[in-house]
Amino acid sequence: MGNTRGPDCGDDWIRDPILMTDGQLLEIANEVRERAYAPYSGFKVGAALLCADGTVFTGVNIENATYTPSICAERTAFFKAISEGHKDFVKIAVTCDKEFCSPCGVCRQVMAEHAPELEVLLGNPQGTFKRMTIQELLPEAFKLND
Ligand code: THU
Repeated sequence: MGNTRGPDCGDDWIRDPILMTDGQLLEIANEVRERAYAPYSGFKVGAALLCADGTVFTGVNIENATYTPSICAERTAFFKAISEGHKDFVKIAVTCDKEFCSPCGVCRQVMAEHAPELEVLLGNPQGTFKRMTIQELLPEAFKLND
């Protein structure tokens, strides 16, 4: 598996998870961030989700004039991946145009359910980032069958 864009998966990149560095994952998130549709908040967010098999799914926030249907970058990436049959997730990079973007509660709940061991990199276009785990971001996450 090389470091090239996958021919059959649009903008989702296929890479070897072992070769993928934190910097590369953050770079992908920064790159896709430009595609965010955020005319109401003006706050663009990009995400790059690394699956265990090396596939990377990207996501951006997509807002709506009626506000409620808006979706965050993290959930866009997760829902793309899950709907394509992916189940094992290693790491997500999230970038925005401030020091870092702390994921909202709804995204934390989604990430905790689908990736309880997830590493979360919170970065920016300047290249600095903060490394966290989903467990740190959402301790005591709700689970239906506890
Ligand atoms: N947003 C994200 O995409 N991810 C986050 O982690 C926090 C917030 C989006 C939602 C909305 O489109 C905009 O940022 C402002 O809240």
